Amino acid sequence: MDNTFRLSNGVTIPAVGYGSFLSTEKNGIQTIKDALDAGYRYIDTAMFYRNEHEIGQAIAEYGIDRRELFICSKVWPTELGEDKTAASFEQSCKALGTDYLDMFLIHWPRADQSQGWEKPLAEGWRAMEKLYNEGRVRAIGLSNFLPHHIRPLLMTAEIRPMLDQLELHVGYMQEYALAYLREQNILPQAWSPLGRGRLIGDERITALAEKYGVTNAQILLGYLVQRGIPVIPKASSPQRMKENLDISGFELTEDEISYLSCLPETGWSGEHPDMK
Ligand SMILES: NC(=O)c1ccc[n+]([C@@H]2O[C@H](COP(=O)([O-])OP(=O)(O)OC[C@H]3O[C@@H](n4cnc5c(N)ncnc54)[C@H](OP(=O)(O)O)[C@@H]3O)[C@@H](O)[C@H]2O)c1
Repeated sequence: MDNTFRLSNGVTIPAVGYGSFLSTEKNGIQTIKDALDAGYRYIDTAMFYRNEHEIGQAIAEYGIDRRELFICSKVWPTELGEDKTAASFEQSCKALGTDYLDMFLIHWPRADQSQGWEKPLAEGWRAMEKLYNEGRVRAIGLSNFLPHHIRPLLMTAEIRPMLDQLELHVGYMQEYALAYLREQNILPQAWSPLGRGRLIGDERITALAEKYGVTNAQILLGYLVQRGIPVIPKASSPQRMKENLDISGFELTEDEISYLSCLPETGWSGEHPDMK
């Protein structure tokens, strides 16, 4: 199984990153230090998560070389616009205690259902391109963009998005969007790869976990990585963090991949870019 994936601009990203949403609620910065201890080098955050400062503090206290890390943050759609997006980037960098990001994403294509979302999006993307051209960010991309959000963006983009972070997990594989991303050479990445925990107890997953002598979480994550999709699970305990990183010891068969890909819809978060 692949440990890293390559973006269209040649930058490599770890197959398993640490998803930090709501991760510091209980134990604060110790959780991030635990993730670094467990071996995570990719940290997924966002302005919206309000934890960038804690992540920055944890990294500084942990004392790891910045270049060993892959830090990804996101701009909220209300902050799309040439100046606003640049300002959001600077704020994220400041909070994280870094002068560059490894990846910067537009968190959602639109803030609400009002008309005219394409214009701020195009302007925000221009700001992302500028940051990329200035060397402030190693890769730029999207999150929660479906093909009908990406097509208008590509009409004015000079630099193509390198990644799209989507809700992807067994039971919600968004195959139409995935096929489009593959066609466009935009790497899909899975948020809520465990269905936010909703899929952990699923007996169909348990049956495969028993066959391979691994945990249900490992089956869910291994499935995605085997399909060429990097994952960013969130876990609170060091034991779960390590478990989620350790997914290279088994390989699902083609038929099992098909079986998991064709399950009826299950575990959807209820979040959708056209229903916000
Ligand atoms: N771009 C976006 O719009 C977007 C949206 C949502 C999420 N995300 C990103 O994706 C990351 C992951 O998504 P998520 O947090 O929603 O859901 P998730 O990673 O699918 O699931 C997290 C849940 O699974 C549990 N869990 C983790 N490892 C486990 C294991 N080995 N065994 C059993 N249970 C386990 C966790 O419990 P404990 O915490 O108690 O261990 C938590 O309740 C987020 O943290 C965030 O960085 C992005």
